[in-house]
Amino acid sequence: MALRFPEDFLWGASTAAHQVEGNNTNSDFWLMENLEGSLFKERSGSAVDHYRLFKEDIALLSSFGLNSYRFSIEWARIEPEEGQFDRAAIEHYREVLLACRNNNVTPIVTLHHFSTPQWLIREGGWESPETPARFARYCSHVMKELGELIPYVCTINEANISIGIAKIIKRHQSGGSQAQVGINTDNMSQMQKYFMALGQAFGVHPQQVHSFLGARSEKGLEVIFKSHLEARSAIRRISPNTQIGLTLSLYDIQSIPGGEEHAAHAWHEEFLQFLPYMEDDDFFGLQNYTRTVYGPEGLLPIPVEAEKTQMGNEYYPEALGAVVRFVSKHLEKPIMITENGIATDNDERRIAFVDSALKGVQACISEGIPVIGYMHWSLLDNFEWQLGFSKTFGLIEVDRTTQERKPKPSAYHLGSIARNNSI
Ligand code: BGC
Repeated sequence: MALRFPEDFLWGASTAAHQVEGNNTNSDFWLMENLEGSLFKERSGSAVDHYRLFKEDIALLSSFGLNSYRFSIEWARIEPEEGQFDRAAIEHYREVLLACRNNNVTPIVTLHHFSTPQWLIREGGWESPETPARFARYCSHVMKELGELIPYVCTINEANISIGIAKIIKRHQSGGSQAQVGINTDNMSQMQKYFMALGQAFGVHPQQVHSFLGARSEKGLEVIFKSHLEARSAIRRISPNTQIGLTLSLYDIQSIPGGEEHAAHAWHEEFLQFLPYMEDDDFFGLQNYTRTVYGPEGLLPIPVEAEKTQMGNEYYPEALGAVVRFVSKHLEKPIMITENGIATDNDERRIAFVDSALKGVQACISEGIPVIGYMHWSLLDNFEWQLGFSKTFGLIEVDRTTQERKPKPSAYHLGSIARNNSI
C-alpha cells in the first residue's frame, strides 16, 4: 500500500550560496581558500556557476516534480562592506525568488549558511557581542526588500555546528579519529602556519579569527543564540507573514548499555539547550545525515563492516525518522527537514537512502508528528567546503568544465515520489 504524505507537503532540494554560486569574493571562505598554504583541498572558484545559471537550475528542479527550493542569500554579497548594501545583489535574489514563483516552486530562504563577510571577521566575527545587531541589520535589509516574496526563512544554518567541531578538535587532540566535517587537522604545524597567515590576511591576531565553522566559547554560543533572537524579531516586524525558524544539525544519537549518560549529554548540547531560543519560532529546520553511538567510554567508532559514505559517515538512513521522533517529543512545532542526503558516486544507493529515510518520515507523520517538508541535500553536486568538489551529494551532476547539468536517476526518483505524494 502506498504511504501518503500530507496534501500541502513541501518536496524540494537544498543548496547554499557559497557552495554553488561561484566567485563569492567578499566572503571569509574565499579568503581562506585562496590563502597560500590553505587547508582547503581546492578553491570554490566559479563553483557550479549557479549565480548565472539559477533559472535553468530552478526550472530543472521543478521539471523533476519538486515544489520547493531551499537556497541561501549571501550576506557578503548583500553587504560587502559594513553598512554598504549592494543593490545589484538584492535584485539578483529578487530574480531568484521570481524564478521560483514562475515555476510554482516555494522558496525557503536561509539568511546565513556558514560563509560570512570578510569585514565581519575583522570586527570579531562570531565571538563579537556586536554581531547579533549586525546580523539583524542585514536580515532587516533583505526582508524589507524581498520579504513579501519569502514565505519561509531560516535565520542561521546549523546554529549548533560549533559544538560538533569542538568535539572533533578534542578527539583529534587526544589522538582520536580524523575530522568528519572535512577540517583536515592532520598536520598541526601546517595548521599553525595557516592560522598565522589567516590572521595576517584578516588583519587580526590569529586567535581572533572567528569564522562560523569553528569551535565557540560560551560567549560565542551566546552570540549565536542572540543573533537568531534579534534576527527573528526584526524579520517579524518587517515581514509578519514570513514563517521563521533556524536549522540544527542532528545526528541520531544512540547508546549501548553504559553509554546512556554520554548520549543524554550529547542530546543536551546539540539540541535541548537550543529549545529556549526557538520557543517563538514558527517551524524547526532539521538536518540529519547519519547516527552516532555512545558506549561507556564515549563515542564508539563506526563498525568496520558498516557501509560508509564518501564523507566517512555510516550509511544509516533510518536516522532521519528517529531524530524527527526525538525532536517532536521536546518541541511542539512543525518540523521541516531542511537537509538530508548522502555523498556517494553510486546513485542507486542514493535512491535506496531516500526511500528508507522517507519511509521513516512517513511513519512519523502517520503517528501525528507535523512534518511539513523534505529538502534533499543537495540539488547539485557542489563545493563541500574544505573537501572541495570531490564529495558528490547532488541530484544533478555538473561537468565543471562546461557547467553542463546532468540529472541523476535519483532526481527523477525523488520527483516521482513528490508528484505521487506517496512512497
Ligand atoms: C551543511 C552543508 C554541507 C552538508 C554536507 C551540512 O552540514 O549545511 O553545507 O554541505 O552538511 O556535509
